Amino acid sequence: MKVVLYVVNFVILYANADVTMDLGPFDLSASIGTVKELYQPLQPDDIKATENSIELMEWLRSKFSTGYGHMPPLDPLEKSSLEPIRVVQGVVDADVYLTNLRIDGAKDFDIDLAEIRMSIDTVNANITLPQININVDFYIDVILGVVPLKFTGHLESITTGLNVVGVFSSTETMMNGIMTFQVTDDKLQITADNLRVNVLTLHTIMYV
Ligand SMILES: *[C@@H]1O[C@H](CO)[C@@H](O)[C@H](O)[C@H]1NC(C)=O
Repeated sequence: MKVVLYVVNFVILYANADVTMDLGPFDLSASIGTVKELYQPLQPDDIKATENSIELMEWLRSKFSTGYGHMPPLDPLEKSSLEPIRVVQGVVDADVYLTNLRIDGAKDFDIDLAEIRMSIDTVNANITLPQININVDFYIDVILGVVPLKFTGHLESITTGLNVVGVFSSTETMMNGIMTFQVTDDKLQITADNLRVNVLTLHTIMYV
């Protein structure tokens, strides 16, 4: 009699999960520094600067698909690979690799409010992005306690009604002989009607 010993050193679990989660509305606030006093009427120069910047944004919108000069195409925004992300939390130690990132929808922005106040160097803006779709492939190498696991899959997220309301103040500084504006203080409120996350395929490789 012959004894055959099989050493199974890994198990591949192909779980084709199509998981859709509606994470509902969200509301995030962020601020840096203290924004200067705002409620002053716009001066004639401010109105001109505001009009010019809206015109510039409208012109840039027409360049979002192709890019222009040093500006890469922004809609769709594509990146074949991103810097790996390390997540260490409790018993989880993971490296997340993202590839084939594609973001659609940026060119459909609506400027609901734009106000530039030159005397105090602030910009007030209210911008809505009706729908932003993010598609990305992921590969996660994780150690859960002592168990190594690998996941691969595709993730899609659909954000509807993304609204950014913010105030930015800046200072003008000379950098390499060029006058540049540096955002020193800001106050942002980011809200959305819904965030839908769709995990389209998920392959799990478990080593035992
Ligand atoms: C931003 O603009 C939208 C659309 O006009 C409006 O519904 C919303 O109330 C505005 N937000 C703020 C904080 O003014």
